[in-house]
Amino acid sequence: MGAVKICDNIYWVGVVDWDIRYFHGPAYSAHRGTTYNAFLIVDDKITLVDTVYTPFADEFIENIRQVVDPTKIDYVVVNHVEMDHSGSLPAIMELNPKAKVFCSKKGMEGLKKHYFAQWDFNVVKTGDRISLGENTLTFIEAPMLHWPDSMFTYIAEQSLLMPNDAFGQHLASSFIFDDQVDENILMEEAAKYYANILTPFSSLVLKKIDQITKMGIDIKMIAPSHGMIWRKNAAKIINAYIEWASGRAGKKAIIVYDTMWGSTEKMARAIGRGIADQGVEYKIFKLSKSDRNDIIKEIQDARAVVIGSPVINRGILSVLSPLLDDLKGLRPVNKVGVSFGSYGWSGGAVEAIQQGLKEAGIEVMEDGLAINWVPDGREIQACVELGNRIAQRIKE
Ligand code: FEO
Repeated sequence: MGAVKICDNIYWVGVVDWDIRYFHGPAYSAHRGTTYNAFLIVDDKITLVDTVYTPFADEFIENIRQVVDPTKIDYVVVNHVEMDHSGSLPAIMELNPKAKVFCSKKGMEGLKKHYFAQWDFNVVKTGDRISLGENTLTFIEAPMLHWPDSMFTYIAEQSLLMPNDAFGQHLASSFIFDDQVDENILMEEAAKYYANILTPFSSLVLKKIDQITKMGIDIKMIAPSHGMIWRKNAAKIINAYIEWASGRAGKKAIIVYDTMWGSTEKMARAIGRGIADQGVEYKIFKLSKSDRNDIIKEIQDARAVVIGSPVINRGILSVLSPLLDDLKGLRPVNKVGVSFGSYGWSGGAVEAIQQGLKEAGIEVMEDGLAINWVPDGREIQACVELGNRIAQRIKE
């Protein structure tokens, strides 16, 4: 796409990855691709904020060349060590071996262990400032948002925050600003990104937003390291983060299940009917036909998580295990949950799911509902009544 001016003497020099479909190895489905954003500040000190993923190094350097000679970089700010942002740092440092590298202490440690280089590291802390000439960089450490080394860089003269992964979205586009793309798709991807990456750090998200608010910094534009730059909706995405981090969920239920011969599926649908009978919204996902990361995004906006499996080998269908593992790591806040499923000659599934919900920090609202073989009319009614109780709990 080439370099794009985002404000006075500051350019987006990132790259668009149209092809990626899984991020963090196989952990995160990125249906709409992503971008690796980096920013070039043309001032008395020519400064690069972040780089891009290694395979895109040549394209990245050509983007820089459209604005300045890529061998004339004085400073490089590394907000985050992860390779999608630091992967092209060795190529930049080869062109600019005397450039100063600014990063957090953990950032320096991480960079040394990734690239085994002796660059001119300059460790910065929250509140440290560096004048580039007309622009001043202010650094804000952001440990565990989402790695220990993470930090934000702020330019007061432009009211511009560059928070690296925070406020990002995996969304490839021919454009770079929020107001140039479909807002619903943008918010959907931002929500999925928060749900799958930042959920475990929700309390830190709230503290960081509070800290930035107390610092009194004016933010007109947020330029994350993935996806669109927030220039129209900077306040909207900050408020959305507060909502997601606070666990202020919508009043709906997500039913996730899989089935062997259809009994657990009948239960899922009857539970859904019981929820809807009470005027509460629900969505059903058959896990083997759904995307796990999309489900996690849906759970973020739900109050109740209802998970079902038939018994196999005294436990659950293995297709459900990755979701329970993810929830255990993510620990979504302010959720209630319940399990259900059919069994033949031994139990174990509803108990295993119940244990999984507890380990994810989800409040189990009652013991799971297990039915033998195929649900009869009375048992279907029990499922409907479970749905009624779930709806009542959501309404509380
Ligand atoms: Fe934590 Fe986009 O890397």
